[in-house]
Amino acid sequence: MNSKITILLSHPNISNSVFNKYLVDINKKQPNFEIHHLEKSKVNGLFDLEAEKKLLRESKALIWQFPIYWYNSPASLRDWQDQVMSPIVYSADNFLKGMPVRVVFTAGAAAEHYTHEGLNRHTAEEMLIPFEMTANAAGMKWFKPLGFYGCGPDTTKATLEQAAQKYKDSLLELL
Ligand SMILES: Cc1cc2nc3c(=O)[nH]c(=O)nc-3n(C[C@H](O)[C@H](O)[C@H](O)COP(=O)(O)O)c2cc1C
Repeated sequence: MNSKITILLSHPNISNSVFNKYLVDINKKQPNFEIHHLEKSKVNGLFDLEAEKKLLRESKALIWQFPIYWYNSPASLRDWQDQVMSPIVYSADNFLKGMPVRVVFTAGAAAEHYTHEGLNRHTAEEMLIPFEMTANAAGMKWFKPLGFYGCGPDTTKATLEQAAQKYKDSLLELL
């Protein structure tokens, strides 16, 4: 029985990351968590489809984790959806069916900007509808996204520690 939560981390600049780096570093020894950095998994822009499939077959649940870049994920997660998800979902053996999936995102803007009245005019859940639709089309089990707001280089240690606890609890909910 699989008991692994695979974290597909899409971050093109992880060496300068504060928030996502902290979340994955602090949890990298957590049993059941496997961190798979998408930018490091591509060669000449392409994923190794068989290796990606093997990882997914060994997973009980998936996390799509990323910093918000222009109200979307960075390109590597979209590439992964196109190159890896598509051939699985459109095959006779869609083994992603029923698999839990949750988006974990970090945003530079404050939470109040992700409201109908705020600067961005839409909520984060509305912004992430394409991910929900994708999960739905793949027959996956969509879980409410977990978001962190106001994420910048000056984030305090206390905020990061609190976030890491929330992150761990929300990932373990998928098991
Ligand atoms: C190219 C780029 C685009 C960004 N677009 C957005 C955006 O649309 N909305 C937002 O709230 N923050 C945006 N940000 C801020 C990032 O989301 C923020 O820096 C990141 O979540 C912090 O996480 P990290 O420390 O792991 O990099 C953007 C940052 C970059 C570099």
